[in-house]
Amino acid sequence: MRRVLALLLLLALPALAADRPPRSGLDYATPGVRAMQADDFANPGMLWVQEGLALWDRPGGMGGTSCASCHGRIEGFAGIAYPRRDPRDPDKLMNLETRIEKCRLDNMGAPPYGYESRELVALTAAVRHQARGRPVAVVEDADAIAAGEKEFRQRRGALDLACAQCHEANAGKKLRDETISEGQTNGFPAYRLRWQGVGSLHRRFQVCNQAVAAEPYPLGSQEYIALEWYLAKRGAGLLVETPAVRQ
Ligand code: HEC
Ligand code: HEC
Repeated sequence: MRRVLALLLLLALPALAADRPPRSGLDYATPGVRAMQADDFANPGMLWVQEGLALWDRPGGMGGTSCASCHGRIEGFAGIAYPRRDPRDPDKLMNLETRIEKCRLDNMGAPPYGYESRELVALTAAVRHQARGRPVAVVEDADAIAAGEKEFRQRRGALDLACAQCHEANAGKKLRDETISEGQTNGFPAYRLRWQGVGSLHRRFQVCNQAVAAEPYPLGSQEYIALEWYLAKRGAGLLVETPAVRQ
């Protein structure tokens, strides 16, 4: 009941102007969280990055190859932009996670790690970390971005709320013990104190779906990848922070 009341109150508040530059979730974080993210020795997310770096060099699969055998130094991936379409099947959207899984299966002959596995999250975080401090790179694709925006504005769940109602209209407002941010994606995969671990962006989407009592889409689904694509575009100009720290 308290949750429903808090949400109803939220909706009664006036909307903010939508035309200001995007702000990272870091700007809405508490001083303690900000300090933790700023110091690589205090940021627990760096443990996942270290693990991902080790996995990069680990041989596996039918050919006994590692990511490094074919791709060289991981720094070479600092400029890659995801989501994008599968060049061999343009109806299919891929994000970094599903791209890595596909590489394991098709090019290494190794079993995929599984979407929210420790390994895939670590490897994704290590690759994204290479771009830390650079503007988020976005592939232009009007159709995919429009599909993602539709998801963002779709009201859903028993509470009948869209992502936009929290993350656009009410950014900066308190919801229980959290400050609602713009729902930007530049910090993911991110360490979340509540998770006591690093999680993917799609895991965060599922939490937000559940917050309005909506059925989440599967991790790695086309709907979530489209949403991810739109959010990357919406946050254009923000710098990659992976691994961010969040409450
Ligand atoms: C009832 C309000 C509400 C709705 C609706 C909602 N969220 Fe959230 N969301 C939150 C809160 C609270 C947090 C945690 C604080 C923060 O970072 O904004 C959060 C966090 C996030 C974050 C992490 C931001 C960061 O910097 O770490 C993303 C991304 C996000 N939401 C996306 C979405 C998407 C996409 C949808 C729609 C599918 C959605 N949210 C729907 C309340 C909501
Ligand atoms: C046997 C060689 C081989 C191995 C091993 C390999 N890849 Fe790949 N990877 C490729 C090829 C070839 C491509 C180009 C696309 C394609 O043909 O699949 C690619 C593409 C990629 C891309 C997309 C790059 C871009 O510019 O968009 C990513 C990301 C990637 N691989 C990650 C990995 C990771 C992480 C590993 C280790 C788990 C790995 N790959 C292991 C051969 C390999």
